[in-house]
Amino acid sequence: MRRVVCPGSFDPVTNGHLDIIGRASRQYDEVVVAVLINIEKKSLFTVEERIQTLQTVTKEYGNVRVDKFHGLLVDYCKQQEIPAIVKGLRAVSDFDYELQMAQLNYRMSGVETLFMATGPEVSFLSSSRIKEIVKYGGSVAGLVPDLVQELLVERLRG
Ligand code: PNS
Repeated sequence: MRRVVCPGSFDPVTNGHLDIIGRASRQYDEVVVAVLINIEKKSLFTVEERIQTLQTVTKEYGNVRVDKFHGLLVDYCKQQEIPAIVKGLRAVSDFDYELQMAQLNYRMSGVETLFMATGPEVSFLSSSRIKEIVKYGGSVAGLVPDLVQELLVERLRG
């Protein structure tokens, strides 16, 4: 079984995340989407809400499983017998941070990190910018799944 993890906060999931998850699902037998439980970071959606949303929007892929983790990602990988992490790189600005993390993760555990270039049509997306746009009345249609847009409008403008 060739398994890989796509980790993140997913607060909320965007079409950029789905681009990477969907493409990873065509390369691997199973993709585990792992939501970080981070009590230090204020989030808009609870971990359970994010998991539920991810399950709905990744249903079509068939081989994607959604889970949560806390602590070090490499400990989760070891525990779940996942040998590699898949990360999307949007631009050069992502690279320094991601390289450092990939090297540290490999050094700590031997878990590999594989980088995938995000599709240019979604390379400018981030969950923070998406929340900001909705908060101030803009439309994020086509940038996030319809369900996520509805949830954002309800949470931020409701
Ligand atoms: O979507 P995000 O917030 O950019 O995802 C970041 C994430 C969850 C992938 C990263 O913060 C992470 O792996 N956190 C778990 C703690 C950890 O393992 N840190 C790396 C130490 S080198």
